[in-house]
Amino acid sequence: MLTIQVNNQLHTLDAFPPEQTLLDFLRGNLSLTGTKEGCASGDCGACTVLVGHGGEVTSLNACITPLGALQGGRVYTVEAMQKDDTLHPVQAAMIEAHGSQCGFCTPGFVMSLIGHSLTPDAATDRNSIVEAIGGNLCRCTGYKPIIAAGMRGCAAADPDWLEPEKDRQADALVAAGEQTRVSAEPKAQYDRPSDLGALADLYAAAPGARLVAGATDLWLEATQRQAAFNHIIDLSGITDLRAIESDGDDLIIGAGVSHAQLQAYFSQLSCGAIAELLSRFGSPQVRNRGTIGGNLGNASPIADWPPLLLCLEAELELRHGANTRHLPLLSFYTGYRQTELAPGEFISRIRIPGPVDWRSLHFHKVSKRIEDDISSVAGAFLFTVQDGVIQSARIAYGGMAATPLRLTSLEPQLQGQRRDNVDLDAMDEWLAANLAPISDVRASARYRLAMAQNMLRKSLEAALS
Ligand SMILES: Cc1cc2nc3c(=O)[nH]c(=O)nc-3n(C[C@H](O)[C@H](O)[C@H](O)COP(=O)(O)OP(=O)(O)OC[C@H]3O[C@@H](n4cnc5c(N)ncnc54)[C@H](O)[C@@H]3O)c2cc1C
Ligand code: FES
Ligand code: FES
Repeated sequence: MLTIQVNNQLHTLDAFPPEQTLLDFLRGNLSLTGTKEGCASGDCGACTVLVGHGGEVTSLNACITPLGALQGGRVYTVEAMQKDDTLHPVQAAMIEAHGSQCGFCTPGFVMSLIGHSLTPDAATDRNSIVEAIGGNLCRCTGYKPIIAAGMRGCAAADPDWLEPEKDRQADALVAAGEQTRVSAEPKAQYDRPSDLGALADLYAAAPGARLVAGATDLWLEATQRQAAFNHIIDLSGITDLRAIESDGDDLIIGAGVSHAQLQAYFSQLSCGAIAELLSRFGSPQVRNRGTIGGNLGNASPIADWPPLLLCLEAELELRHGANTRHLPLLSFYTGYRQTELAPGEFISRIRIPGPVDWRSLHFHKVSKRIEDDISSVAGAFLFTVQDGVIQSARIAYGGMAATPLRLTSLEPQLQGQRRDNVDLDAMDEWLAANLAPISDVRASARYRLAMAQNMLRKSLEAALS
């Protein structure tokens, strides 16, 4: 049975198709049609709602969120933002600043902005508001009045508007152990275990099941290709997989850690490369749900974390039933969307060996849009430089081959090169001779190569300056 709270009302469901989205449930089952469907792929933000698990409330795209992931969660839609006859200050500011014309996108913008206003010490300067609405598209109003409304509305917003602590019926039910396993329609199943061992046993015993974490990649199969899933195993309820820990100088990141969690963690470490990666990663809605384990496990050649983690010589902890093994990320990808994972095996943790000089890391991403877009090419670079001489180099790219790529044959050629004699033209020639990117809708092969060459030049110049 699924227990979920929507706008202060508790709902329980005995059965539902595993691929059912939160958006279909809100609009189809509850007639909460204020939440819109634009793209059904996480790109436009029209379906933005707020979701609370425990004390935290964050925004997400309801169109690519599995309903089953909401077990014990609280959902807030735009219908609940008004209190009695009083609009939320963000709603009032949208009217005053003429932030809406056809209105289709407006509930999504309102929910993203209110979500932002609920974060501790929410900044209301222009850049922060632009970042907060990075996952929302408007086709008719223009962004100037929406940004003005966001700045004004968030400045006037009450961070306790939702009063989450007072209102946790679904949480309480789940905490009492009443609902821990979600079943779906006959012949289909949606499992959301709360314990790592249970997850490992379940997946080892049912290797044909689809594993899901944040669903920001997998659920596009349901919404874009109408895939039906027989058996889903959802790891989003496992606290053990959501930890970031130090082990001596090493950093250990649970596979279920979200990009938003990583953004909060790395903001303390002054690492410009990771700050750049995360600020350019999807949108707030995608970062709130998407995980680092899903980014690696999806095995996309254009995912952003693999090049950076290849440079950091990260190692994966892989779990199958009671067994654990360790594998360098360098050996993980075996072909286009192929990995070393055995059936029923999953990534449990990612270890970054330390100490890392975070300031020596460089990351560049080229995509068609700045906000909410996947890379055409991404490059990560780590140079150790002493007295103007390169001691060691690590170079990795996404989007330049069928798998994320580390250039271990090029790296030694940079060793010993000096600031005044580094041969950038030779580097360009090496890349042209050894890389064969594809042409697709995102970029031509020629463009990709030129970007890869420029990224290497830019990073070397920064490292040697
Ligand atoms: C609008 C939009 C923008 C995006 N922007 C970016 C971007 O800028 N950069 C980028 O890199 N990606 C981007 N993505 C892709 C996606 O958000 C990320 O790849 C995300 O990290 C996937 O994580 P997830 O938890 O949602 O994975 P899921 O969708 O849950 O899973 C993806 C795949 O990984 C597998 N998997 C999940 N967890 C594990 C695990 N622990 N072990 C083994 N396999 C596992 C699943 O079985 C599935 O096959 C974007 C997606 C959308 C919809
Ligand atoms: S409908 Fe476009 S992001 Fe969900
Ligand atoms: S007001 Fe029409 S799409 Fe934004």
